[in-house]
Amino acid sequence: MHTAPAGYRLTEITEDRVEEYRSIDALAFAEGARDTALDAAVPFAVPLDRAVGVETDAGELVAVHGSYAFRLPTPGGEVPCAGLTWVGVRPDHRRRGLLSTMMRAHLDRSLGRGEPVSALFAAEPGIYGRYGYGSAADHVRLTLPRGAALRDVPGSAELRVRFESLDPQAHRDLVDGLHAAAGAGRPGWVLRGSDALRTIAVADPPAWRAGGEPARLVTVRDAADDVRGYALLRRVQTWADGGAEYPVRVRAAAAVDAAATHRLWSFLLDLDLTSTVSTGMLAVDDPLLALLVDTRRPVPKLSDNLWVRLLDVPAALTGRRYAAPLDVVLHVRDALLPGNDGAWRVVTGEAGTDGTYGAHVERAQAPADLELDVRELGAAYLGGRSLAALAAVGQVTAHRPDALHRTATAFGWPIAPLCPWVF
Ligand SMILES: CC(C)(COP(=O)(O)OP(=O)(O)OC[C@H]1O[C@@H](n2cnc3c(N)ncnc32)[C@H](O)[C@@H]1OP(=O)(O)O)[C@@H](O)C(=O)NCCC(=O)NCCS
Repeated sequence: MHTAPAGYRLTEITEDRVEEYRSIDALAFAEGARDTALDAAVPFAVPLDRAVGVETDAGELVAVHGSYAFRLPTPGGEVPCAGLTWVGVRPDHRRRGLLSTMMRAHLDRSLGRGEPVSALFAAEPGIYGRYGYGSAADHVRLTLPRGAALRDVPGSAELRVRFESLDPQAHRDLVDGLHAAAGAGRPGWVLRGSDALRTIAVADPPAWRAGGEPARLVTVRDAADDVRGYALLRRVQTWADGGAEYPVRVRAAAAVDAAATHRLWSFLLDLDLTSTVSTGMLAVDDPLLALLVDTRRPVPKLSDNLWVRLLDVPAALTGRRYAAPLDVVLHVRDALLPGNDGAWRVVTGEAGTDGTYGAHVERAQAPADLELDVRELGAAYLGGRSLAALAAVGQVTAHRPDALHRTATAFGWPIAPLCPWVF
């Protein structure tokens, strides 16, 4: 266990402390009051053997964090990943080093469990870079006018749409299966690895409705009644002087091919009484963006999505594939995990049938071609940030300019990373 600031100590969270653990999160995040409907719909999902807190010498819990045991899809592969979550420090104990204490423990424990990577959603973007996490993906959100035009897709018109009330129990597996199928091949597209997380994905307690109707489920089906796309949404009754102006809030939407994507969004963009449709988090190359005739009017809003931290550099780098052949020596700086610090040679082998390359990673004696902090390696890991762009602002140092171009190309990936749900 790590040393905590004087007056504090790290502590495991046992079953009898779950309520205390949850109360710290509620104070840190200004959560509303819980009620029986909320508790019944939204189970506590942090595995207890991965929940850790900080208590005072007197035994009062004042800071918490936890992690999920995920498989993180990488470019062409996947790796075990500690999904950091529920990070909170009671407001009257903040800025005393408790987060830093918890983060050192989290990095070491995750590494000890054989997880070469950790990932998170940052509540505020200034927090996690100091711990070696790099911003590895962006998402966009759109607010579309009703009736926004889409380019044609053959086969879309033959698909059927069903609109019904969401039944969390009955629809849970259908939503989970479509989520997995629609995101296959996209780096960062984490699956919910437990029943509790799958339940939360379709939970619809009144406290979450913010003035809207109960959640509705839209499914797109083919002639054989196979479901090929879905959306979870709610409309908000809004009457103005000019008539109905309901906004449609789409919480999640995914489809397995272009025709289903077209059918799904054509339907969502043409609901009676509505005025606008706001999307959830979309990848920067989401098919909807390619189908929209006008992407300017919706004024896309860009924000950071997943943050990634490499805990075991060689295991992480061999856990993904590369878009081009490569033989490079990277000098990695890691102030928190000395096992990563130093020079690594990354050498790709033969191209696979899909034209991508696996890599062998070993300690290097040769002089480094590129020098970078583990944070920047995490940022580039999912293929969504260019090492060349990071070099252009001084975050990567290139000792050989040709190596920068080749490495940036090899680390890139044709499918943009995204995790479409916050954990
Ligand atoms: C964010 C939070 C966990 C930080 O906890 P903390 O115990 O105050 O953090 P520490 O005292 O260990 O601070 C470590 C460093 O991070 C910095 N830091 C902490 N919170 C920060 C923030 N929100 N933005 C930027 N920097 C931050 C500190 O200034 C300190 O910097 P230093 O090492 O240069 O001195 C805590 O303020 C909190 O619970 N906030 C509300 C909930 C939240 O945002 N949780 C994060 C979920 S992803």
